[in-house]
Amino acid sequence: MANTIRTDYSNLMNLVKDLIVLESAAAIVHWDMETLMPPRAVVLRSEQLALISRVSHKMSTDPEIGRLLRDITGNSQYDTLHEVEKRNLQLTQKNYEEQTALPEKLVAEIAKQQAITVNMWKRAKAAKSFSMLRAELEKLLELNRQAAEILMKVKGTRTPYDALIDIYEPKMTAENIDKIFTPLQQGLTKLLEKIQASPVKSDTNTLKATIPVETQRRIAKELSQTLGYDTTSPKAGGRIDETEHPFTTGYYDDVRITTHYHPEEFTSSIFSVLHETGHALYEQNLPQRWKYQPVGMNCSMGFHESQSRFCENIIGRSREFWACWLPKLKRIVAPALSGVNLDDFVLAINSVKPSKIRIEADEVTYSLHIIVRFQIEKDLFNGKTSVAELPAIWNQKYEEYLGVKVQNDSEGVMQDTHWSSGMYGYFPSYALGNIYSGHLIAQLTKEIQDWRDQLQKGNLKKLLKWLKENVHSYGKLYDTADLLRKITGKNLDAKPFLQYLQEKYSEIYSF
Ligand code: CO
Repeated sequence: MANTIRTDYSNLMNLVKDLIVLESAAAIVHWDMETLMPPRAVVLRSEQLALISRVSHKMSTDPEIGRLLRDITGNSQYDTLHEVEKRNLQLTQKNYEEQTALPEKLVAEIAKQQAITVNMWKRAKAAKSFSMLRAELEKLLELNRQAAEILMKVKGTRTPYDALIDIYEPKMTAENIDKIFTPLQQGLTKLLEKIQASPVKSDTNTLKATIPVETQRRIAKELSQTLGYDTTSPKAGGRIDETEHPFTTGYYDDVRITTHYHPEEFTSSIFSVLHETGHALYEQNLPQRWKYQPVGMNCSMGFHESQSRFCENIIGRSREFWACWLPKLKRIVAPALSGVNLDDFVLAINSVKPSKIRIEADEVTYSLHIIVRFQIEKDLFNGKTSVAELPAIWNQKYEEYLGVKVQNDSEGVMQDTHWSSGMYGYFPSYALGNIYSGHLIAQLTKEIQDWRDQLQKGNLKKLLKWLKENVHSYGKLYDTADLLRKITGKNLDAKPFLQYLQEKYSEIYSF
């Protein structure tokens, strides 16, 4: 009997491994499409990706997986399995049930409608015309609503929207997010008022310099190296390439990041490299012993974002980091920036100004952009808002929360690709990432009191080790709330993040 359960378990994990390996191959094929692929390859590439996704769906709904799961969980020796094995089974079961519950026809329809809608979104955005997008977006939303209703039953969530959130943030609900976002919004608004009332103003001219792309490539390599992301040694497991929109992709020993270089705006690549490096470190630091297992994956999109924002903002926009790095940067770009001092540089990279575009937002206003999207998305799924009403509601909320007037829908409701790509339920993860990172700083400060002094000396070893041991090394062993409690003993709330911002910005803006 004991033998049967071990054999069944290892047979099941072999099936899961094949699926994980195939998906990692798909990720590299996709990476190639975004970075190096010649233009004529586009049709062949879409065939390749479609085939991989068909095979992958077939493999993940293989009845053999269902049979093995039933045999293992029904086996009288089930309790002899250890915690990690049980978690692997639980995650495999969840994925199997969800994949098999969705009719193949609906999955195919969604994929097709998604491609049509993204394509229309590009055209509508260029033409600044939401009415061009409306009909296709309605169709895509309706199909996703159908999928969400099915997933709701399988996942046992209270609403269809909660089922979508669960894809990115397991076990999180809209109700919980509301409870956390409401005080977050109030806290950010108060902080913003204080910053705007401050006599200290950042001077954007501080960062005006033309830095050749080749020089920026060198900065990117050295910066990511500083954080322990190796792209140069013979043992490197990373690379940096170039795309318009930066991203990270890969698995364990092959995790790649991309960035963009604008000669007139060198800080753009600096912060995108720091951000993506945070994502890459998470993937590379997952425990090697869990490779090819469901547990050897990141905990959630929110936790992923907590790591990227930790590197980009908490480390990368701190005075301590630049006390050490600014002289180095000046040497690399000389004679540019020769007249810039640390105070001015730190103020300039922490300039706070409400804006219309999420991806350009500063650390303080960023989460307000997310709150707007979350509230609208929630109402879209509970029927309080229709697609036709989106632009008006968007513009009204931007004026209310950020005090900015949206002039056209390209800089408004059509600025992000998420809704046209069918990624409903994803947006909250961005702000949750900030909130998780707040908890992490509070705990880190308790455990390594002098981490800021060490950072100032250019010693990131302990800090990076702490992130690896406390976040990365847990992989997907726990759901988000349990992982946070494991690390900090606390339940999720916005206070630590607001406290971090308050301390940082009151110093920079003297209030
Ligand atoms: Co990110």
